[in-house]
Amino acid sequence: MYASLPDAAGPQVSVIVDGKPVAVPAGASVAAALLLAGAVPSRANPVTHAPRAPYCMMGVCFECLVEIDGIPERQACMIAAAEGMRVRCAPRSSPPERS
Ligand code: FES
Repeated sequence: MYASLPDAAGPQVSVIVDGKPVAVPAGASVAAALLLAGAVPSRANPVTHAPRAPYCMMGVCFECLVEIDGIPERQACMIAAAEGMRVRCAPRSSPPERS
């Protein structure tokens, strides 16, 4: 779905997204790594359980919350990817039963 621009060649870092290594340009955000990894949806809305993914890429929408190096609810678009970083998407749960 997403790919780096051809002129984005240069230093890269490798992050682990849900157990899979993903190479991203140095300085790219964790949210960019999620999109490059195809790890979307990356979380579920806690109320409606609707699938969510990074959207604004500038710290406004909070749709990019993931676990980074064991710390939950981190804003992936506001954090630069770093070598060896471990990212875990939020578990996707079933929507609540409606009566
Ligand atoms: S993508 Fe909107 S806050 Fe991160």
